[in-house]
Amino acid sequence: MIVLNINGESRSVDVPDDMPLLWVLRDVIGLTGTKFGCGIAQCGACTVHLDGVAVRSCVLPVAAVGTKAVTTIEGVGASAVGKKVQQAWLDIEVVQCGYCQSGQIMSAAALLAATPEPSDAEIDVAMSGNICRCGTYVRIREAIRQVATGQKVAPQTLPNEAPNQAAATGQVLSFVRVEGVA
Ligand code: FES
Ligand code: FES
Repeated sequence: MIVLNINGESRSVDVPDDMPLLWVLRDVIGLTGTKFGCGIAQCGACTVHLDGVAVRSCVLPVAAVGTKAVTTIEGVGASAVGKKVQQAWLDIEVVQCGYCQSGQIMSAAALLAATPEPSDAEIDVAMSGNICRCGTYVRIREAIRQVATGQKVAPQTLPNEAPNQAAATGQVLSFVRVEGVA
């Protein structure tokens, strides 16, 4: 039996030591807000906090968690920073399909807790491991800036997707169209 501290609650789970924390959270405890994307620490969808530090739960054996506090997307709003990040995400209308956004919010909250006024370069480094196939990167950065500065930007002034994402999407659609005609 392994005892975990998750979102301030003690949870006992009867699972193998090497089961990834993500599996335990989703399939054993039922906290499905944390998502599975790649399973190899490459996309960030599974990001949770361990003692406030952003980690990839898909590659973290549950036995390695020990007594560290696990915070998931279901619990991040209990902290002042987490609550501000969630509000900024709503204000800036960041979310598109939503699949990556739990991980994005967890990485952003960890960044802002450690570095309350990050530079754009620090934002880019901290968020570089979180992939968004919908290309919401511009709005994510703006939401982080809002938390850092308290200054709000009207969401309608922001693009829906990053310029390079639009180009990439265009290329894919163009390829599909040509292939379809051929
Ligand atoms: S599912 Fe963990 S990093 Fe992609
Ligand atoms: S909002 Fe769709 S993958 Fe990020």
